[in-house]
Amino acid sequence: MKKHVVLLPGDGIGAEVIQSSQKVLDVIAKEFNHTFTYATHDIGGTAIDNHGTPLPENTLEACKNADAVLLGAVGGPKWDNNPSHLRPEKGLLAIRKELGLFANLRPVKGFEKLLHASPLKEEVVNGSDLLIVRELTGGLYFGTPSERRDNGNAVVDTLAYTRSEIERIVDKAFQCAQLRRKHLTSVDKANVLESSKLWREIVEEKKSEYPDVAVEHVLVDAAAMKLITNPTHFDVVVTENLFGDILSDEASVLTGSLGMLPSASLREDSFGLYEPVHGSAPDIAGQGLANPLAMILSTALMLKHSFHLEDEANLIESAVEQVLSDGYYTADLNIAGAGKKVGTEEMTQLIVDLVTEQAKTKKEVEL
Ligand code: NAD
Ligand code: IPM
Ligand code: MN
Repeated sequence: MKKHVVLLPGDGIGAEVIQSSQKVLDVIAKEFNHTFTYATHDIGGTAIDNHGTPLPENTLEACKNADAVLLGAVGGPKWDNNPSHLRPEKGLLAIRKELGLFANLRPVKGFEKLLHASPLKEEVVNGSDLLIVRELTGGLYFGTPSERRDNGNAVVDTLAYTRSEIERIVDKAFQCAQLRRKHLTSVDKANVLESSKLWREIVEEKKSEYPDVAVEHVLVDAAAMKLITNPTHFDVVVTENLFGDILSDEASVLTGSLGMLPSASLREDSFGLYEPVHGSAPDIAGQGLANPLAMILSTALMLKHSFHLEDEANLIESAVEQVLSDGYYTADLNIAGAGKKVGTEEMTQLIVDLVTEQAKTKKEVEL
Protein backbone atom coordinates (compact mmCIF):
# COMPACT_ATOMS: atom_id res chain seq x y z
CA MET A 1 0.00 0.00 0.00
CA LYS A 2 1.22 3.52 -0.83
CA LYS A 3 0.07 6.44 1.30
CA HIS A 4 1.06 10.06 1.74
CA VAL A 5 1.17 11.40 5.29
CA VAL A 6 1.56 15.04 6.27
CA LEU A 7 3.44 15.55 9.53
CA LEU A 8 2.64 18.65 11.57
CA PRO A 9 5.07 18.64 14.52
CA GLY A 10 3.86 21.98 15.91
CA ASP A 11 5.47 23.19 19.13
CA GLY A 12 7.17 21.96 22.29
CA ILE A 13 7.08 18.19 22.70
CA GLY A 14 4.98 17.97 19.51
CA ALA A 15 8.20 18.04 17.50
CA GLU A 16 9.74 15.33 19.71
CA VAL A 17 6.88 12.85 19.61
CA ILE A 18 6.16 13.24 15.90
CA GLN A 19 9.60 11.75 15.22
CA SER A 20 8.50 8.69 17.18
CA SER A 21 5.53 8.28 14.85
CA GLN A 22 7.68 8.46 11.78
CA LYS A 23 10.09 5.84 13.13
CA VAL A 24 7.22 3.48 13.93
CA LEU A 25 5.65 4.05 10.50
CA ASP A 26 8.99 3.38 8.81
CA VAL A 27 9.31 0.00 10.51
CA ILE A 28 5.70 -0.89 9.65
CA ALA A 29 6.41 0.04 6.01
CA LYS A 30 9.55 -2.09 5.97
CA GLU A 31 8.01 -5.17 7.58
CA PHE A 32 4.73 -5.11 5.67
CA ASN A 33 5.92 -3.78 2.30
CA HIS A 34 4.05 -0.50 2.39
CA THR A 35 5.30 2.84 1.14
CA PHE A 36 4.63 5.86 3.31
CA THR A 37 5.77 9.20 1.95
CA TYR A 38 5.95 12.21 4.24
CA ALA A 39 5.89 15.98 4.03
CA THR A 40 6.47 18.12 7.11
CA HIS A 41 4.71 21.47 7.52
CA ASP A 42 4.47 24.24 10.10
CA ILE A 43 1.48 24.87 12.34
CA GLY A 44 0.93 26.73 15.62
CA GLY A 45 3.61 28.88 17.22
CA THR A 46 6.30 27.65 14.85
CA ALA A 47 4.15 28.76 11.92
CA ILE A 48 3.55 32.16 13.53
CA ASP A 49 7.32 32.60 13.85
CA ASN A 50 8.11 31.37 10.34
CA HIS A 51 5.13 32.65 8.34
CA GLY A 52 3.25 35.16 10.51
CA THR A 53 0.15 32.97 10.80
CA PRO A 54 -0.72 29.84 12.86
CA LEU A 55 -2.10 28.01 9.81
CA PRO A 56 -0.22 28.89 6.61
CA GLU A 57 -2.06 28.33 3.33
CA ASN A 58 0.47 25.77 2.09
CA THR A 59 0.12 23.71 5.29
CA LEU A 60 -3.63 23.53 4.73
CA GLU A 61 -3.20 22.69 1.02
CA ALA A 62 -0.71 19.94 1.84
CA CYS A 63 -3.17 18.42 4.34
CA LYS A 64 -6.00 18.56 1.81
CA ASN A 65 -3.86 16.57 -0.62
CA ALA A 66 -2.68 13.98 1.90
CA ASP A 67 -4.19 10.60 2.78
CA ALA A 68 -3.90 11.43 6.50
CA VAL A 69 -2.27 13.93 8.86
CA LEU A 70 -0.33 13.39 12.08
CA LEU A 71 -0.20 16.37 14.43
CA GLY A 72 2.06 16.72 17.50
CA ALA A 73 0.81 19.65 19.59
CA VAL A 74 0.68 23.43 19.44
CA GLY A 75 1.14 26.27 21.89
CA GLY A 76 3.55 27.57 24.47
CA PRO A 77 4.27 30.52 26.75
CA LYS A 78 6.09 32.38 23.98
CA TRP A 79 2.76 33.06 22.22
CA ASP A 80 0.42 33.19 25.23
CA ASN A 81 0.05 36.96 25.13
CA ASN A 82 -0.50 37.21 21.39
CA PRO A 83 -3.79 38.62 20.11
CA SER A 84 -6.43 35.89 19.51
CA HIS A 85 -5.85 35.54 15.76
CA LEU A 86 -2.12 35.05 16.34
CA ARG A 87 -2.38 32.28 18.92
CA PRO A 88 -1.06 28.80 18.06
CA GLU A 89 -4.35 27.24 19.19
CA LYS A 90 -6.18 29.21 16.46
CA GLY A 91 -4.19 27.20 13.90
CA LEU A 92 -5.38 23.92 15.41
CA LEU A 93 -9.02 25.03 15.51
CA ALA A 94 -8.78 26.32 11.94
CA ILE A 95 -7.31 23.12 10.53
CA ARG A 96 -10.01 21.01 12.22
CA LYS A 97 -12.71 23.29 10.80
CA GLU A 98 -11.19 23.65 7.32
CA LEU A 99 -10.81 19.90 6.96
CA GLY A 100 -14.33 19.27 8.28
CA LEU A 101 -13.12 17.00 11.09
CA PHE A 102 -16.25 17.06 13.23
CA ALA A 103 -15.74 13.80 15.14
CA ASN A 104 -12.92 13.45 17.64
CA LEU A 105 -12.59 9.90 18.96
CA ARG A 106 -10.66 9.64 22.20
CA PRO A 107 -10.32 6.05 23.40
CA VAL A 108 -9.43 5.71 27.07
CA LYS A 109 -8.18 2.27 27.95
CA GLY A 110 -6.19 1.49 31.04
CA PHE A 111 -3.20 -0.76 30.46
CA GLU A 112 -2.93 -3.56 33.02
CA LYS A 113 0.62 -2.59 33.96
CA LEU A 114 -0.38 1.02 34.62
CA LEU A 115 -3.23 0.30 37.01
CA HIS A 116 -1.24 1.57 39.94
CA ALA A 117 0.14 4.55 37.98
CA SER A 118 -3.27 6.16 38.43
CA PRO A 119 -3.87 8.11 41.65
CA LEU A 120 -7.30 6.44 41.73
CA LYS A 121 -7.82 3.16 43.55
CA GLU A 122 -6.87 0.14 41.48
CA GLU A 123 -10.26 -1.50 41.98
CA VAL A 124 -11.97 1.63 40.62
CA VAL A 125 -9.82 1.88 37.49
CA ASN A 126 -9.56 -1.83 36.75
CA GLY A 127 -11.44 -2.80 33.58
CA SER A 128 -12.18 0.76 32.42
CA ASP A 129 -12.39 0.97 28.65
CA LEU A 130 -14.34 3.86 27.22
CA LEU A 131 -14.50 6.02 24.13
CA ILE A 132 -15.18 9.73 24.27
CA VAL A 133 -16.77 10.99 21.06
CA ARG A 134 -16.19 14.73 21.17
CA GLU A 135 -17.88 17.11 18.74
CA LEU A 136 -14.93 19.05 17.28
CA THR A 137 -16.01 21.83 14.93
CA GLY A 138 -18.86 23.59 16.74
CA GLY A 139 -19.91 24.97 20.10
CA LEU A 140 -18.13 27.66 22.10
CA TYR A 141 -14.89 27.25 20.17
CA PHE A 142 -16.55 28.45 16.96
CA GLY A 143 -19.32 30.87 18.02
CA THR A 144 -19.75 34.23 16.36
CA PRO A 145 -16.41 35.90 17.03
CA SER A 146 -15.93 36.49 20.73
CA GLU A 147 -15.94 40.14 21.49
CA ARG A 148 -15.11 42.60 24.22
CA ARG A 149 -17.76 45.17 24.97
CA ASP A 150 -18.14 48.06 27.38
CA ASN A 151 -14.58 49.29 26.83
CA GLY A 152 -13.23 45.82 27.38
CA ASN A 153 -15.13 45.24 30.59
CA ALA A 154 -17.71 42.78 29.25
CA VAL A 155 -17.20 39.69 27.10
CA VAL A 156 -19.32 37.48 24.87
CA ASP A 157 -18.72 33.89 23.75
CA THR A 158 -21.53 32.05 22.00
CA LEU A 159 -22.39 28.36 22.10
CA ALA A 160 -24.05 27.59 18.79
CA TYR A 161 -25.07 24.29 17.20
CA THR A 162 -27.28 23.42 14.26
CA ARG A 163 -29.46 20.31 14.11
CA SER A 164 -27.30 18.75 11.39
CA GLU A 165 -24.08 19.33 13.36
CA ILE A 166 -25.57 17.49 16.32
CA GLU A 167 -27.12 14.74 14.22
CA ARG A 168 -23.87 13.73 12.51
CA ILE A 169 -21.87 13.45 15.75
CA VAL A 170 -24.69 11.57 17.48
CA ASP A 171 -24.89 9.16 14.52
CA LYS A 172 -21.13 8.65 14.71
CA ALA A 173 -21.37 7.87 18.43
CA PHE A 174 -24.23 5.40 17.95
CA GLN A 175 -22.20 3.66 15.24
CA CYS A 176 -19.17 3.48 17.52
CA ALA A 177 -21.35 2.01 20.28
CA GLN A 178 -22.67 -0.65 17.89
CA LEU A 179 -19.09 -1.79 17.34
CA ARG A 180 -18.37 -1.86 21.08
CA ARG A 181 -20.49 -2.78 24.12
CA LYS A 182 -23.63 -1.06 22.77
CA HIS A 183 -23.97 1.46 25.57
CA LEU A 184 -24.13 5.19 24.89
CA THR A 185 -23.96 7.98 27.45
CA SER A 186 -24.90 11.39 26.11
CA VAL A 187 -23.44 14.13 28.28
CA ASP A 188 -25.05 17.57 28.33
CA LYS A 189 -26.26 20.40 30.56
CA ALA A 190 -29.91 20.18 29.52
CA ASN A 191 -31.07 21.54 32.89
CA VAL A 192 -29.64 24.93 31.86
CA LEU A 193 -28.48 25.23 28.23
CA GLU A 194 -30.75 25.54 25.21
CA SER A 195 -28.09 23.87 23.03
CA SER A 196 -28.12 20.88 25.38
CA LYS A 197 -31.92 20.64 25.16
CA LEU A 198 -31.73 20.31 21.38
CA TRP A 199 -28.83 17.86 21.77
CA ARG A 200 -30.91 15.68 24.10
CA GLU A 201 -33.95 15.82 21.81
CA ILE A 202 -31.85 14.64 18.88
CA VAL A 203 -30.33 11.75 20.84
CA GLU A 204 -33.88 10.71 21.80
CA GLU A 205 -35.03 10.91 18.16
CA LYS A 206 -32.06 8.86 16.94
CA LYS A 207 -32.60 6.06 19.45
CA SER A 208 -35.06 4.21 17.24
CA GLU A 209 -32.48 4.00 14.41
CA TYR A 210 -30.11 2.09 16.70
CA PRO A 211 -32.38 -0.19 18.75
CA ASP A 212 -29.48 -2.42 19.81
CA VAL A 213 -27.81 0.46 21.70
CA ALA A 214 -28.83 1.33 25.27
CA VAL A 215 -28.88 5.10 25.80
CA GLU A 216 -28.70 7.30 28.88
CA HIS A 217 -28.41 11.03 29.46
CA VAL A 218 -26.08 12.31 32.17
CA LEU A 219 -25.55 15.96 33.12
CA VAL A 220 -21.96 17.05 32.63
CA ASP A 221 -21.22 17.84 36.26
CA ALA A 222 -22.43 14.42 37.40
CA ALA A 223 -20.59 12.81 34.48
CA ALA A 224 -17.31 14.40 35.63
CA MET A 225 -17.82 12.82 39.04
CA LYS A 226 -18.90 9.42 37.73
CA LEU A 227 -16.00 9.23 35.30
CA ILE A 228 -13.53 8.87 38.13
CA THR A 229 -15.70 7.17 40.75
CA ASN A 230 -17.27 4.54 38.47
CA PRO A 231 -15.40 4.59 35.13
CA THR A 232 -16.33 1.02 34.17
CA HIS A 233 -19.93 2.22 33.91
CA PHE A 234 -19.07 3.92 30.60
CA ASP A 235 -18.72 2.54 27.09
CA VAL A 236 -19.22 5.36 24.55
CA VAL A 237 -19.63 8.94 25.77
CA VAL A 238 -20.83 11.56 23.29
CA THR A 239 -20.68 15.23 24.08
CA GLU A 240 -20.19 18.74 22.71
CA ASN A 241 -16.80 20.29 22.06
CA LEU A 242 -15.83 21.96 25.35
CA PHE A 243 -17.35 19.30 27.62
CA GLY A 244 -15.43 16.69 25.62
CA ASP A 245 -12.19 18.62 25.95
CA ILE A 246 -12.49 18.79 29.73
CA LEU A 247 -13.77 15.25 30.29
CA SER A 248 -11.02 13.70 28.17
CA ASP A 249 -8.19 15.27 30.19
CA GLU A 250 -10.02 14.08 33.30
CA ALA A 251 -10.35 10.59 31.85
CA SER A 252 -6.60 10.46 31.20
CA VAL A 253 -6.20 10.05 34.96
CA LEU A 254 -7.58 6.53 34.53
CA THR A 255 -4.65 5.59 32.30
CA GLY A 256 -1.96 7.04 34.56
CA SER A 257 -0.98 9.96 32.32
CA LEU A 258 -2.13 12.41 29.70
CA GLY A 259 0.85 11.08 27.76
CA MET A 260 -1.07 7.85 27.10
CA LEU A 261 -4.19 9.18 25.33
CA PRO A 262 -4.42 9.12 21.53
CA SER A 263 -7.13 10.63 19.34
CA ALA A 264 -8.55 10.52 15.83
CA SER A 265 -10.23 13.56 14.28
CA LEU A 266 -12.50 12.26 11.55
CA ARG A 267 -15.17 13.15 9.01
CA GLU A 268 -17.40 10.94 6.83
CA ASP A 269 -14.69 9.66 4.44
CA SER A 270 -11.54 7.79 5.44
CA PHE A 271 -9.35 10.92 5.76
CA GLY A 272 -8.33 11.82 9.29
CA LEU A 273 -6.04 13.93 11.44
CA TYR A 274 -4.47 12.04 14.32
CA GLU A 275 -3.28 13.88 17.40
CA PRO A 276 -2.50 12.99 20.99
CA VAL A 277 -4.90 14.46 23.56
CA HIS A 278 -2.05 16.21 25.38
CA GLY A 279 -0.53 19.60 24.60
CA SER A 280 2.96 20.88 23.92
CA ALA A 281 4.03 20.38 27.58
CA PRO A 282 6.31 23.43 27.80
CA ASP A 283 7.46 22.31 31.26
CA ILE A 284 9.33 19.32 29.81
CA ALA A 285 9.88 20.36 26.17
CA GLY A 286 13.36 19.95 24.71
CA GLN A 287 14.52 17.55 27.39
CA GLY A 288 13.80 14.23 25.69
CA LEU A 289 11.41 13.28 28.52
CA ALA A 290 8.06 13.26 26.69
CA ASN A 291 6.02 10.10 26.65
CA PRO A 292 5.65 9.25 22.93
CA LEU A 293 2.98 6.57 23.48
CA ALA A 294 -0.05 8.85 22.95
CA MET A 295 1.42 9.92 19.60
CA ILE A 296 2.37 6.34 18.69
CA LEU A 297 -1.12 5.10 19.59
CA SER A 298 -2.56 7.93 17.47
CA THR A 299 -0.45 6.59 14.60
CA ALA A 300 -2.03 3.17 15.13
CA LEU A 301 -5.45 4.84 14.94
CA MET A 302 -4.41 6.36 11.59
CA LEU A 303 -3.46 2.94 10.23
CA LYS A 304 -6.81 1.58 11.38
CA HIS A 305 -9.23 4.35 10.41
CA SER A 306 -7.63 5.95 7.35
CA PHE A 307 -5.67 3.06 5.80
CA HIS A 308 -7.70 0.05 7.06
CA LEU A 309 -4.47 -1.66 8.13
CA GLU A 310 -5.93 -3.45 11.17
CA ASP A 311 -3.11 -5.96 11.63
CA GLU A 312 -0.43 -3.30 11.53
CA ALA A 313 -2.36 -1.12 13.98
CA ASN A 314 -2.90 -4.05 16.35
CA LEU A 315 0.80 -4.81 16.24
CA ILE A 316 1.64 -1.28 17.42
CA GLU A 317 -0.94 -1.50 20.19
CA SER A 318 0.40 -4.83 21.38
CA ALA A 319 3.98 -3.47 21.28
CA VAL A 320 2.84 -0.68 23.62
CA GLU A 321 1.21 -3.24 25.90
CA GLN A 322 4.40 -5.32 25.82
CA VAL A 323 6.81 -2.45 26.51
CA LEU A 324 4.80 -1.54 29.58
CA SER A 325 4.59 -5.08 30.86
CA ASP A 326 8.36 -5.35 30.34
CA GLY A 327 8.54 -2.61 32.97
CA TYR A 328 9.60 0.40 30.88
CA TYR A 329 8.03 3.76 31.65
CA THR A 330 8.55 7.47 31.00
CA ALA A 331 8.83 10.03 33.79
CA ASP A 332 5.17 11.11 33.60
CA LEU A 333 4.00 7.65 34.71
CA ASN A 334 4.03 7.44 38.45
CA ILE A 335 5.47 3.96 38.83
CA ALA A 336 8.93 5.01 39.98
CA GLY A 337 10.99 2.21 41.44
CA ALA A 338 8.78 -0.44 39.84
CA GLY A 339 10.53 -0.54 36.48
CA LYS A 340 13.04 0.98 34.07
CA LYS A 341 12.70 4.69 33.42
CA VAL A 342 13.41 5.74 29.82
CA GLY A 343 13.24 8.89 27.70
CA THR A 344 11.37 9.60 24.46
CA GLU A 345 13.97 8.17 22.10
CA GLU A 346 14.59 5.01 24.09
CA MET A 347 10.87 4.34 24.47
CA THR A 348 10.43 4.82 20.72
CA GLN A 349 13.30 2.45 19.94
CA LEU A 350 11.81 -0.18 22.26
CA ILE A 351 8.52 0.03 20.34
CA VAL A 352 10.33 -0.12 16.98
CA ASP A 353 12.25 -3.22 18.10
CA LEU A 354 9.11 -4.92 19.41
CA VAL A 355 7.17 -4.15 16.23
CA THR A 356 10.03 -5.61 14.17
CA GLU A 357 10.17 -8.71 16.32
CA GLN A 358 6.38 -9.26 16.40
CA ALA A 359 6.08 -8.67 12.63
CA LYS A 360 8.73 -11.32 11.98
CA THR A 361 6.99 -13.79 14.29
CA LYS A 362 3.68 -13.08 12.57
CA LYS A 363 5.23 -13.77 9.15
CA GLU A 364 6.75 -17.04 10.37
CA VAL A 365 3.40 -18.18 11.73
CA GLU A 366 1.69 -17.31 8.44
CA LEU A 367 4.24 -19.23 6.32
P1 NAD B 1 -0.23 19.88 28.38
O1 NAD B 1 -1.06 18.73 27.95
O2 NAD B 1 0.75 20.39 27.42
O3 NAD B 1 0.52 19.49 29.74
C1 NAD B 1 -0.14 19.18 30.96
C2 NAD B 1 0.82 18.38 31.87
O4 NAD B 1 0.95 17.06 31.33
C3 NAD B 1 2.23 18.95 31.92
O5 NAD B 1 2.74 18.77 33.20
C4 NAD B 1 2.99 18.11 30.92
O6 NAD B 1 4.37 17.99 31.19
C5 NAD B 1 2.28 16.77 31.02
N1 NAD B 1 2.32 16.04 29.74
C6 NAD B 1 1.50 16.24 28.68
N2 NAD B 1 1.82 15.42 27.68
C7 NAD B 1 2.86 14.68 28.11
C8 NAD B 1 3.65 13.65 27.51
N3 NAD B 1 3.41 13.20 26.27
N4 NAD B 1 4.66 13.12 28.24
C9 NAD B 1 4.90 13.53 29.49
N5 NAD B 1 4.19 14.50 30.10
C10 NAD B 1 3.18 15.07 29.42
O7 NAD B 1 -1.25 21.03 28.81
P2 NAD B 1 -0.96 22.55 29.26
O8 NAD B 1 0.31 22.63 30.01
O9 NAD B 1 -2.21 23.01 29.86
O10 NAD B 1 -0.79 23.33 27.88
C11 NAD B 1 0.46 23.64 27.30
C12 NAD B 1 0.23 24.21 25.90
O11 NAD B 1 -0.28 23.18 25.06
C13 NAD B 1 -0.80 25.35 25.85
O12 NAD B 1 -0.31 26.30 24.95
C14 NAD B 1 -2.05 24.69 25.32
O13 NAD B 1 -2.88 25.56 24.60
C15 NAD B 1 -1.46 23.65 24.41
N6 NAD B 1 -2.31 22.47 24.15
C16 NAD B 1 -2.28 22.00 22.89
C17 NAD B 1 -2.97 20.84 22.57
C18 NAD B 1 -2.90 20.34 21.18
O14 NAD B 1 -2.11 20.82 20.40
N7 NAD B 1 -3.68 19.36 20.80
C19 NAD B 1 -3.67 20.17 23.58
C20 NAD B 1 -3.67 20.68 24.87
C21 NAD B 1 -2.97 21.84 25.16
C1 IPM C 1 -7.18 19.57 22.75
C2 IPM C 1 -6.67 20.94 23.12
C3 IPM C 1 -7.25 22.01 22.19
C4 IPM C 1 -8.76 21.98 22.36
C5 IPM C 1 -6.70 23.43 22.39
C6 IPM C 1 -5.23 23.48 22.31
C7 IPM C 1 -7.31 24.40 21.41
O1 IPM C 1 -6.91 21.23 24.44
O2 IPM C 1 -7.00 19.16 21.59
O3 IPM C 1 -7.74 18.90 23.61
O4 IPM C 1 -9.28 22.57 23.32
O5 IPM C 1 -9.43 21.39 21.52
MN1 MN D 1 -7.65 19.53 25.55
